[in-house]
This record gives sequence, structure tokens and C-alpha cells, in this order.
Amino acid sequence: MINRSTIEEILNATRVEEVVGDFVNLKKRGANYIALCPFHNEKTPSFNVSPAKGIYKCFGCGKGGDAIRFLMDHEQLSYPEALRWLADKYNIVIKEEAETPEDIEKRDKRESLLVINQFAARYYDQCLWESEEGRNIGLNYFKERNFREATIRKFQLGYAPASGSALSNEALAKGYQREYLLALGLSKEKDNRLRDFFRSRVVFPIHSLSGSVIAFGARTLSSDKNIPKYLNSAESEIYHKSKVLYGAFFAKSAMRQHDECLMVEGYTDVISLHQAGIEHVVASSGTSLTHEQVRLVKRYTENITILYDGDKAGVAAALRGLDIVLEEGLNVKVAILPEGEDPDSFVQKEGSSAFLEYVKKEAKDFILLKTDILREESGNDPVKKSVLIRDMVGSIARIPDPIKRALYLRECAGRMEMREQLLMNEVNKAIARKLGEQRKSNERAAREEEKTLEEQVQVNAGRQDEAKERQNNYYQERDVLRVLLEYGTLKFDKEYTVAAYVVEQCSSYEFENAGFAAIFRYFEEALARGETPRVEELSHHRDKEIQELAVSLMSMSREVSENWDKMHDIVVEEKEAVYRNDARSAVTRLLLRQVRREIEKNRRELAREKDEDQILLLLDVRQKLKAQELELTERLNTVIY
Ligand code: CTP
Ligand code: MN
Repeated sequence: MINRSTIEEILNATRVEEVVGDFVNLKKRGANYIALCPFHNEKTPSFNVSPAKGIYKCFGCGKGGDAIRFLMDHEQLSYPEALRWLADKYNIVIKEEAETPEDIEKRDKRESLLVINQFAARYYDQCLWESEEGRNIGLNYFKERNFREATIRKFQLGYAPASGSALSNEALAKGYQREYLLALGLSKEKDNRLRDFFRSRVVFPIHSLSGSVIAFGARTLSSDKNIPKYLNSAESEIYHKSKVLYGAFFAKSAMRQHDECLMVEGYTDVISLHQAGIEHVVASSGTSLTHEQVRLVKRYTENITILYDGDKAGVAAALRGLDIVLEEGLNVKVAILPEGEDPDSFVQKEGSSAFLEYVKKEAKDFILLKTDILREESGNDPVKKSVLIRDMVGSIARIPDPIKRALYLRECAGRMEMREQLLMNEVNKAIARKLGEQRKSNERAAREEEKTLEEQVQVNAGRQDEAKERQNNYYQERDVLRVLLEYGTLKFDKEYTVAAYVVEQCSSYEFENAGFAAIFRYFEEALARGETPRVEELSHHRDKEIQELAVSLMSMSREVSENWDKMHDIVVEEKEAVYRNDARSAVTRLLLRQVRREIEKNRRELAREKDEDQILLLLDVRQKLKAQELELTERLNTVIY
């Protein structure tokens, strides 16, 4: 358990822009930073980071929060893991009670899994360097492959001994749970006892983007063809194979610097290239790429060069798997290494500058290379040729940028000796098909999310009156909350803070939106206790819904709400000078809205009512409401519409 004061200390030290900046390429824009959103696929940046407010917010997909929320969402960390990550970054010593077996048991499962993996990595590491067997077999193997000591240490390479269950036993003795050892795939059960899964193998720890060990790959040293060359950790809560690229943790800053990512296949390729000083390299680990993996690269660079071994049969088949890279809008090049070489052997033979020169010279644009290879394959066979064209069309249609698409169309039509127009028609058809599918799935998602903030923010002009009315309440309510969060602590007058003023004025108003109601209640309760409500508490709030709502309110700067202001004919003035007015008018608008709704209700009741006494009563109510309306409109100093 991390104690309260350490948490405070961590929160105080944390700079959201520094944390987000570790994962996202931020560009300074005025007082804020912008970037391509790491949570959804986009071409123009709508992801904002505000150092002043300590929050980030994407105006495209709606994700937002503080630095901790970012680590939780982006790195899939738990809350305590995020705190530990930050403590590590800002060199804060975490104060906590010594760990007892009960503590360990209590701790969040994911965190335990990481702790166990860290233990295992250290265990394999010790076996490699300190045991007779490890030095003779494992270390010797790495030395034969020309891995230097510093390289072996950097990648935390290790050795798993032949003996049956040393790791499992040691882990159990330390109090780690059997069930977790099994979940991580470090141990297997046999005759009711735990056996080590990795035996007689050299071990490659696989790191998350923040550097924790989330899995292992282990290579056999035997040449027996019946034994799998590599064994890998099972998928677990901390390891999703499809989201991980080997080496990404070590390649982050180099990818950004070079504005390029080299993609290789093997663990050893990554390691050899690093040793040669080529660090912008990650490995797909021999499987075809996934969207998540491509997006991971895209956070650092849009240029990806894929290196294929020279002896690889069926490069064309491998190329088919690359369409998803196009879909993510990246520029893809492919370089095929000389016959019989893989990146590891090639860089060891040639050295790093020759290696880089070769890659630069040989790297061919993916689509053009694919066209050439497929054309050669299909020859003059018309059936094969039409299959080829469909394949090409499929790839080109996936490129999101229309200008790029047009350039490819021309080039490929030329290479395939066919009319550009014909190819274009096919591409357009493919795009239409894709859009159709996309629309269907979007609509499905939209229906599900109908109640979410994002949906409600998108004003749909063509809606029914009632829906419009509800939406307008939504905006009025939101604006009052915005004022609370934005200037709540400032002075409204001699007696009141803005928060106190707003809360008092709106005390009888019933918020329709449940999230707004919760935030309003938070302010109300804090004031009732005589405390100053702290906005930070809301942006750090553990309830994700309230936190997201608070953050979107906090990030509704005047620029963002400009459309809304225009819609409602509000004159936008300098914020600093007018926060009192802003508060007053937000509150007044909300109350005015409520009064007008009551007037409307009263009107309908009057129209229906037959009983004379009741009519008189209703008329009385109407007069009072009208007086209130007048007072409010005067206060607002706007014309009644
Ligand atoms: N791989 C795997 N299981 C296998 C073979 C390969 O998971 N049975 C994955 C590993 O991630 C490996 C990658 O595919 O790193 C590439 O395979 P390969 O080129 O055979 O391995 P290298 O890492 O190059 O290993 P070495 O150089 O020792 O042959
Ligand atoms: Mn290899």
C-alpha cells in the first residue's frame, strides 16, 4: 500500500505533458500541446495536453484525464502501478509498509504478475551469470553469437537451467501464488506439482513500453528438429501478444529521432542491430502484424521499413499481411536482404553503416514492390492477372490519404499496363464497399453509445423539438458545471466564491444529466462542510465517468465552446475580465431555461383545464413565472426570443 502523503507527493511532482510526452509526439501549440491521438486513428491532431490544467483531452474520441488516467488507459496499468511508474520517473521514494504474504495476496493481480515476472527475469539472469551450467551453456552461447556483456545485460538475457522445478519452488517459497505462476506460463502442473516451463533454454525477457517484463521468449540450444525452437509465455492479463513489439521499449526515442522504424522478425535481430548502434528497430516475432502493433509504431513515426530475410520463400505472401499498415496511414517500405542473410548475420558481417546504406538503397515502396512481384508471378495468365488486380486494388483502397492514393493509381496502372481510369473505378468500388461496412459498424457503435457525452455533444440539427429541448438543457447544465470547475475558487464578491454563488443559485435546480448532478453534488457537499472544493480532486477522481466528465468540462476552453457560443449568440469576451459575468450568465441561463419550461408546462395545463378555480390558480402561477422570467432576462441583458 502506498501511503497518502506519497500519493500527494507524486501528484505534485507529476507534469502531465512530461508523462504523455513519453509516449506521444507532442507539439507545442501556444500554452498547450497537441498531437495525433494515441487512442484512435486520426490524421489531424485533436489530442490536447494542457500543462496548466494537468490534463489531456482528445476532441476526436473524447478520451481524457490526468497523467494517471493516461498511464492506466495507454499502458494498461492499474492505479497503483501508475503511481509506482510516476514515482520511478520523478525519483520519489514510495513509503509503504513492508510486504507480508497477506499484502502480496491482497495486491492487485496484475501488479503481482509483474512482480513475479520481475522475479523470474532476475532468476534467469542469475542462472546465466552465476551458475556453472548457465555460464557454460547459456553465456557461452551468447558469446558465440558475438553478444557483448553490456548487450546481454541491457536486454536482461538469461538462462533457464535443465533442472525441473527450481524456479517454481523458489517462487512458491517467496509466497508467490501458484495460480499466478500458472497464469504467467512460468510453471506447468504435473502430478499436482509445479514444474518449470522453460528449461535448458536461453531466455529473452519481453518488455512493455514502460520497461517492465511482461513475458518471455526462450530459445532452445538443441538442434533437435522435434523441439520447438522458441517457447513463449502464455497470454495473460499483462501480456497480449498482438499488442506488443519486441524491442519497442528500447527503440522509442530512436524511432522518433530517425523518424523511422525498422521492422525485423527475430529477437536476435533486434539485439544484434542494437549492439551495432542501430536502435530504431523492433521485431514482430515472426507473426503477421496487427493493428495495435502498427499503432504502437505510429506513436513514434509514420515511416516503417520492413526487413525480410533473403532466403525467405514467398515474400509475396508476407506482403499480403501488410495491408493493415497501409490502413493506418503509414508509409511502408520493404527491403529484402541478400540471399541467406538475416538482419543479425548481415549487420555482423557488414557493420552498421554498410547495413544502413543497403537498407536505404534497397528499400522499395511496398505497393510498387508488391505490384512488381505479383506481375512476375502471374505472367500473361489472364485469370492470375485479374486476381492480381483485385489484390492491388484492395491495397490501394486502404490508403486513407486520397492524394497518395491517386499517385499510386497512376504508378501501378503504368506498371501493369492498364488504363488508369479502369483501375480507379475498381479502387472506388472497393472504397465504397469498405465505407459501407464501416458505416454499418459505426451506426451499431453509435446506438450503443447513445447516452455518452460524445454523442450528446454532436448537435443534430434535424432532431425533434423535445430532443432539442433536452439537448439544450444539456448544454446549459454543462456550462454551469464548466463555470464551477473553471473559476469555482475565485472570488465572486466580498462574501462568496464563484462556487458558493453558483451552488446557492442552483440549489433548487434538478440536473437531468446524472454525471453533472454528481459533480454539482460534490461541490454542494464540500461547501456544506465548509471546505473549498478542489477541482484537482475531480480530475483525479477514481470514478472514471466523473473524472472524464470533469476533464472534458475543464478542457472546454472558450475556443472549444465557440460553436456553442455562436449558436446562442453569446458575445465572447476576454475570459479573465469577465469570469463573474460568465458565472452569472451561465447560472441565469440555466434558471431561465427552467422557468421557461415551467411556463410551457403551465400553458399546456391551462389549455386543458376546465375547472375555473384551477384556471385561476394556474394563471397565478403563470404570472409569477412570467415575473421570474422577466427578472432573469433583465439580468441576462439579452432580448427575449
Ligand atoms: N519464433 C517463435 N517460435 C518459433 C520460431 C520463431 O516464436 N518456433 C519467433 C521468435 O520471436 C523469433 C522470430 O520468430 O525471434 C524469428 O524466428 P527466427 O528467425 O527463426 O529466430 P531468430 O530470432 O532469428 O533466432 P536465431 O537467430 O537464433 O535463429
Ligand atoms: Mn536469426
